[in-house]
Amino acid sequence: MSTPTSIVILAAGEGKRMVSRWPKVMQRVAGRPMLGHVLGAARALQPRALHVVYSHGGDALRNEFDHGDLHWVLQAQRLGTGHALAQALPSVPDADRVLVLYGDVPLVRPGTLEGLLGGDPAAIALLSVHLDDPGGYGRVIRDAEGAVERVVEARDADPEQIRVRECNTGILSGPAATLREYVRRLDNDNAQNEYYLTDVIGMAVADGVPVHASAVADPTEVLGANDRIQLAELEAAYRARAAEALMRAGVTLVDPARVEVRGEVTVGRDCVIDVNVVLEGRVVLGDGVQIGPNSLLRDCELGADCEIHPFSMVERARVAARCQVGPYARLRPGAQLAEGAKVGNFVEVKEATIGAGAKVNHLSYVGDASIGAHCNVGAGTITCNYDGARKHRTVIGDDAFIGSNTALVAPVEVGAGATIGAGSTLSSDVPPGSLALTRAPLKVVGRWKRPQKQG
Ligand code: UD1
Ligand code: CA
Repeated sequence: MSTPTSIVILAAGEGKRMVSRWPKVMQRVAGRPMLGHVLGAARALQPRALHVVYSHGGDALRNEFDHGDLHWVLQAQRLGTGHALAQALPSVPDADRVLVLYGDVPLVRPGTLEGLLGGDPAAIALLSVHLDDPGGYGRVIRDAEGAVERVVEARDADPEQIRVRECNTGILSGPAATLREYVRRLDNDNAQNEYYLTDVIGMAVADGVPVHASAVADPTEVLGANDRIQLAELEAAYRARAAEALMRAGVTLVDPARVEVRGEVTVGRDCVIDVNVVLEGRVVLGDGVQIGPNSLLRDCELGADCEIHPFSMVERARVAARCQVGPYARLRPGAQLAEGAKVGNFVEVKEATIGAGAKVNHLSYVGDASIGAHCNVGAGTITCNYDGARKHRTVIGDDAFIGSNTALVAPVEVGAGATIGAGSTLSSDVPPGSLALTRAPLKVVGRWKRPQKQG
């Protein structure tokens, strides 16, 4: 962008119809507040300044979004979109281009906005949308030659104007000096007694200021949400967009309507994602990763050809190539699986490394531990990592065999190649290559008569 841009995001909506304790723009789409999406698109344009016009819930908004780059502008009374912009303009230099966005229109793409900013720097550029059912949208009125004349709000439109299908999205850009001049001259003599930003259009055209309207190709970009039904529609639009991006990147989605992307996903080729999978935060999938149904992956990296079996949760974990996880496994933060490791059903792993080719197949808890390559950890093995005050580590060398139902009372170390008998409680270290077991001797009492009930 040659001319510096100041972006003004109108976010003073109360959102009564959301029936919420929070400002409307805090409502989430794909796990992220609507304003967060808008700020993401805005920041992608690298504006000189970013203003947010809000009316209430300022503390909640600041806590959620402030990265030190935002100018918060209070619009104490909600007197209309023109009034809202007027609150921000005093801190915008005349030479800037202003881009107006809505905090409750979250799916707009940066590329679309770049198009709007790329034209004649002296012009006001409107983003419009063609709708079959334009409802309450403002209508873009053109003259016989097709030039924009003005924007008329639905409630102020005459029967002929109301039939127009080209609608105002509310997103526009224009030179700061020009907008300042016309916003100052707005009145509220209309059906809603509001200061309409849209009235600027007719005034500018009358003065010979160039005004262009161009229609967005994908109408989902300009969908807004006034209630939770529309919020669900936005969620569906976002889901479809994210699913399409995954498929274009080489992922097979068994059902594109049943995968949720709530973050940034990087994928290799030939991944397969089954139904009801949720991907959150930063997720990196290598080539050929397969994710079974009903799994949640959050901030994790999975190497090539890993298989995540159904109903598994993987969070802040790193899984190397060719690992098998689940069904019903839980990899918690700090879990690291080396190549070809297996973590089976009802196994929880936290802050622990599982060596290459090692197996923890059933019903175990491995926390604060390091398990060597090719170990076999039997069913029901537990690292007792917590003494009620502090956490302690368990270290198991390569090729060790831990019998089922072993309790490893940390801190404890099992040497390479050691064998632990089933049912042991280990509270001291076991040297490499040895057999260790703690087991109460079996007692057999012959011809045992059970107590009988009286009468
Ligand atoms: C507005 C446009 C209409 C357009 C529609 C698209 C005007 C007069 N009308 O109508 O042409 O088709 O958007 O959705 O501009 N806001 C404030 N302060 C205010 C009023 C609004 O910050 O005093 C914010 C709202 O939070 C919202 C946006 O501006 O993000 C639009 O306000 P809204 O009341 O939804 O405008 P519409 O009547 O839908
Ligand atoms: Ca609206």
